[in-house]
Amino acid sequence: MPKVINPVDISKEENEAKKDYFDRHTPHVYCESKAKKAEKFTVKVTMGKDYPHPDDHDHYIQYVQLWNRQTMLAEATFTAGALGNMAGHVEVDFNIVPTVSMKLSAMSYCTKHGLWQSEDVEVSVE
Ligand SMILES: [Fe+2]
Repeated sequence: MPKVINPVDISKEENEAKKDYFDRHTPHVYCESKAKKAEKFTVKVTMGKDYPHPDDHDHYIQYVQLWNRQTMLAEATFTAGALGNMAGHVEVDFNIVPTVSMKLSAMSYCTKHGLWQSEDVEVSVE
């Protein structure tokens, strides 16, 4: 089983290299906190906030997944060069149709640094 790296509060990290390392690998889930049952609902996932991740042939973000608790809802895959071989923030909009309240999280995979998890985001569905 691969080790999954949980989000780290980088505001408490003083080492600049560690801040960069943790930030650029951490996926973040952005969406409304309420959704309407059986209607399209957009969930944005972005990688990092302040520090961009490389997009090199041997080091890039290969996939981003959206999960509701233990169920994977969607996945987007990338090849090296999708960001023009320039460091950047991978960003994906997932459109889902919820039927029950959700606890969303994202997982992302860096080809050099492994599997990373976001914070959970609760969405109530009415
Ligand atoms: Fe990496």
